[in-house]
Amino acid sequence: MKSLSGGSAFLKPGSTTRATFLLDFLYPLPLPPLFHVKPHWIRAAEYVGLDLQPGQIETMERYGLWLTGEAMRAGGIGPDESERIDQRHLADSILFATEIPDDARDVWDLGSGAGLPGIPLAICLPEKEIVLVDRAGRRVDLLRRAVRILGLANCSVCHRDIADLSGDVDVIVSRASLIPEELLPVARSQLRPGGTAINAGSWRSRPDHDGWTTIEIPPHVLDQTVWLLIMRQE
Ligand SMILES: C[S@@+](CC[C@H](N)C(=O)[O-])C[C@H]1O[C@@H](n2cnc3c(N)ncnc32)[C@H](O)[C@@H]1O
Repeated sequence: MKSLSGGSAFLKPGSTTRATFLLDFLYPLPLPPLFHVKPHWIRAAEYVGLDLQPGQIETMERYGLWLTGEAMRAGGIGPDESERIDQRHLADSILFATEIPDDARDVWDLGSGAGLPGIPLAICLPEKEIVLVDRAGRRVDLLRRAVRILGLANCSVCHRDIADLSGDVDVIVSRASLIPEELLPVARSQLRPGGTAINAGSWRSRPDHDGWTTIEIPPHVLDQTVWLLIMRQE
């Protein structure tokens, strides 16, 4: 369990966790449970009901480090994001898994950017085929590199404008790329009957949009309330 409390700086956005890191350093034996402070993304995975294996935890940690290093230098995420990788990016992405049906096979991440939420989902859901779609060539180069260095066999990259997709897919996820009104017709035309679209953005209050059902994630998970918009194809 020590790896969940100690480890890399990107997992430690708060002062309590920094204290835990110091304790880990000064006290090399396993710490009593009182001192274990879980990263938000582990809390999100528990909330979703995922039983992550050590290899998945290690890959998620490597992805977080890649985001704060190569992806940030290349402009794939903003320069001020390093303190928010755990909560705002990894944990927030994992929450999409709450609404991905068990029997879904393929998932498209539309406007993936630096791989959010698609790469955390590919790590957590190895039995799903994840396709990361983006129209920006530099983002696509970054995504291909991330998929290669993380060794994600269930993840591929598609360099295309969302408007040019033609598909028949089980699940669409999209975060901070298209507004719900833009994503809805795309999802209607690309999802199979019974398919699911999941959308999220940086909302400060509850979003309600025609055609979407709003799901609230309680604040004990990410230390703030977040929302997902869900659409099920008839
Ligand atoms: C603000 S970034 C968000 C990236 C990521 N989803 C996240 O949550 O950090 C928006 C991304 O969507 C991509 N994008 C926007 N419109 C698109 C479109 N019509 N087709 C494909 N990609 C698009 C942009 O190139 C950019 O990488």
